[in-house]
Amino acid sequence: MAISPVTAFIFMLTVIPISQAALSAHYYHQTCPQAEDIIYQTVHNTSIYDPKVPARLLRMFFHDCFIRGCDASLLLNSTPDNKAEKDGPPNISVRSFYVIDDAKTKIEKACSHTVSCADILAIAARDVVAMSQGPWWPVLKGRKDGRVSKANETINLPSPFSNATTLIQSFAKRGLNVRDLVTLSGGHTLGFSHCSSFSARIHNLSDPSINSEFAMNLKNKCPIQNKDRNAGEFLDSTSSKFDNDYYKRITMGKGVFGSDQALYEDFRTKGIVDSFAKDEKLFFREFAASMVKLGNVGVIEDGEIRVNCGLTN
Ligand code: HEM
Ligand SMILES: *[C@@H]1O[C@H](CO)[C@@H](O)[C@H](O)[C@H]1NC(C)=O
Ligand SMILES: *[C@@H]1O[C@H](CO)[C@@H](O)[C@H](O)[C@H]1NC(C)=O
Ligand SMILES: *[C@@H]1O[C@H](CO)[C@@H](O)[C@H](O)[C@H]1NC(C)=O
Ligand SMILES: *[C@@H]1O[C@H](CO)[C@@H](O)[C@H](O)[C@H]1NC(C)=O
Ligand SMILES: *[C@@H]1O[C@H](CO)[C@@H](O)[C@H](O)[C@H]1NC(C)=O
Repeated sequence: MAISPVTAFIFMLTVIPISQAALSAHYYHQTCPQAEDIIYQTVHNTSIYDPKVPARLLRMFFHDCFIRGCDASLLLNSTPDNKAEKDGPPNISVRSFYVIDDAKTKIEKACSHTVSCADILAIAARDVVAMSQGPWWPVLKGRKDGRVSKANETINLPSPFSNATTLIQSFAKRGLNVRDLVTLSGGHTLGFSHCSSFSARIHNLSDPSINSEFAMNLKNKCPIQNKDRNAGEFLDSTSSKFDNDYYKRITMGKGVFGSDQALYEDFRTKGIVDSFAKDEKLFFREFAASMVKLGNVGVIEDGEIRVNCGLTN
């Protein structure tokens, strides 16, 4: 079959939603050299008062990039005629949006209408990893902010109950490979989960992948008739330190989500988990590289530089 240039181009767009064309490490070098300092200080200062901030910002970046690409669609507020992503089904609305808004306000004062909200979120996600003793990497910048955000599209996020095949497919749709899946799942070295994200799994007596002592412990925290909406568990035993403990725990059957433990049940991902459990430096290097790839997912060129991250201009 002959493939015309147009068909080939469309094919590329469908299969490789990664676009690196517009992004560069020195994008604001001339126009807003202080942007990264302002973001770092804001994230650092707020994290001291609110220790939940690092994990939340890292998670926000992942969600933003997985829905409509890294275009800050997650930051847009709902309007009377549109329910936005942040109010979508996995209703974790208490994320740390205020930190990004705070950084944006300061950046607008320093260099107005220059730095996109999507770039602020990408830089903040790097900073929270580095300040939690994880790796640092240069963030590529030049993203534009989108104008559309739809609550129903969050059903396209991977589920904590997904198996490895479903996870691999979900990442592949965004141009991310099996190694990226295992590597980026290491983001679960930070933070906390509510019972609802793993309860069905731990009360399933026939799931052989879960360590029985660990399951018992989680059942006590999350009884079937759970009345405490805030109850849950930390995602690894050092939930504010970025390290490879997440992988070590998976090798012991102590992954909190089915989607975490599934990575140790599948031949395509098991070996990668083992290698990160053994070698933290390897995990750090690959995490930095996979975060750069995640930051390239679905980057748009015809967007805007929002003045307020919650509103289109
Ligand atoms: C592989 C597919 C993934 C699934 C199914 C998934 C699912 C989840 C779920 C269900 C929660 C807990 C929500 C709650 O109950 O409060 C969570 C938390 C979290 N996720 Fe993921 N996630 C995935 C990938 C990622 C990636 C790629 C990152 C970042 C690189 C990430 C970072 C986080 C962080 C930091 C938290 C903790 C948030 C907090 O403490 O508030 N996740 N994830
Ligand atoms: C962060 O805190 C330091 C020390 O208190 C202060 O000098 C700096 O202005 C703060 N920066 C931001 C962006 O809030
Ligand atoms: C969750 O979503 C619902 C509608 O989908 C919304 O009314 C509510 O404010 C959101 N936040 C919380 C914490 O329930
Ligand atoms: C979300 O709803 C819109 C209509 O409001 C529809 O066009 C779109 O296909 C829906 N998307 C998903 C992922 O269900
Ligand atoms: C993985 O999950 C999907 C969706 O729930 C299901 O269709 C598929 O059969 C599962 N694959 C395996 C190998 O269990
Ligand atoms: C319980 O675990 C078994 C074995 O992994 C699985 O086949 C079954 O679908 C699970 N049931 C529920 C309700 O999750």
